[in-house]
Amino acid sequence: MKPSKLTPSPTGSILTETAVDPRKYGIMIEVQGERLLADLRALAEFGKEGTGVNRLSFTPEDLAARDWLIERMQAAGLVAKIDGVGNVYGRSPSQSRAVLIGSHTDTVPSGGWLDGAMGVMYGLEIARASIEAGADAAVGVDVISFADEESTFCGTLGSRSFVGEVGETEIATAHNLEGLALTDALARAGYADRPHARLDRDRHVAYLEAHIEQGPRLEAAATRIGMVTSIVGIRRMEVIFRGQSDHAGTTPMAMRKDAGAALIRYAGAVLDGFDAVGGPDSVWNFGHVIFEPGAGNVVPREARILIEYRDTTMAIMDRMEAVIRGAATAAHAAGAVAVEARPMMAIAPADMDPALGRLMDGAAAELKASAMYMPSGAGHDAQHLANHVPTAMMFIPSIGGRSHDTAENTEEADIVLGLRVLAATVTKIGNQVRS
Ligand code: HGY
Ligand code: MN
Ligand code: MN
Repeated sequence: MKPSKLTPSPTGSILTETAVDPRKYGIMIEVQGERLLADLRALAEFGKEGTGVNRLSFTPEDLAARDWLIERMQAAGLVAKIDGVGNVYGRSPSQSRAVLIGSHTDTVPSGGWLDGAMGVMYGLEIARASIEAGADAAVGVDVISFADEESTFCGTLGSRSFVGEVGETEIATAHNLEGLALTDALARAGYADRPHARLDRDRHVAYLEAHIEQGPRLEAAATRIGMVTSIVGIRRMEVIFRGQSDHAGTTPMAMRKDAGAALIRYAGAVLDGFDAVGGPDSVWNFGHVIFEPGAGNVVPREARILIEYRDTTMAIMDRMEAVIRGAATAAHAAGAVAVEARPMMAIAPADMDPALGRLMDGAAAELKASAMYMPSGAGHDAQHLANHVPTAMMFIPSIGGRSHDTAENTEEADIVLGLRVLAATVTKIGNQVRS
């Protein structure tokens, strides 16, 4: 196991390597599973779509969910606000130090009721129970729902803003696939002129994120808790093909500037290139293709493809990016159609903190929960916090490994067990902080 990255914060508070038994210190947070489940079901009503949720960033249903969350945070006793990029942030009023617990409440199109939402509501329940306990614990619990984790406008906007990694230019130029500018979405929401909330290293001793696994590994291993070791890097590139509309019946094939055919040939070349350079953990996805004007009897004048690719190492992602760019250069040189490769997102892989992982492992053991260490093939807000504060992620099983679909689901018993393991982890952290 790699040595912990834990470093003392400026005020000298530090998490020690050895686990302590929270029962010795007596500060246990009694969370309420039914209250958590009721909150999760209430949140799922915003953008409800069958058994899932359609709550894209800054849509009316997303904004309504943020307003609901602010009210729930305030009712729990937190000092809560929505910041200038839409982060919903609740701070424990009593302590000068806090564990930050969060995730996201925006979803992908036709997504699931738990992706992101579960981690935020875990944080609310643990913060609420900690305040109810009248805990004079060494640390409080802050809660955050990071905006636009699902990259509807720009990848993990909220968490990157929270750690100071989003520039004004990125906010000024970001837009969704329909062409709506992020600045317009923030202005319409009434967030635009608000200050941006920031991580406070004098206050935040750790960041914890609980999430459904969104894959099949825990279920296949009949294991109920996953301690995440590392989170995959993600990159996106949009490749644009500009040709010329013509009559699809009368225009000789040799005369056509067919942007659609150029895209299809290009996509095949990229798939062959990825097969050659990808590693054992590499994945890729052509999630969005557009032909303009998109009529059956018109030669496409423009075509766009959105390529997303992931790996645990930067070196392999660099090789995959070279495939994308090389094939674009070759397609452009072919002559009839102009080809442009445009980077859309680049998120580096990140390691989770081993000492926090061991505390989480110990908490699972005390609650007799089967647990295993595992990497994350999904990206998460935690991979940005990890560069600034000791960070850990916890997975619970996804039924059938399904996610990013309305079929996404998890057994209620697993949801409640995960809540209790995370609460016990918070207690362990609180008992270790030396004030
Ligand atoms: O795409 C992801 O990995 C995450 O669900 N945003
Ligand atoms: Mn997701
Ligand atoms: Mn997620």
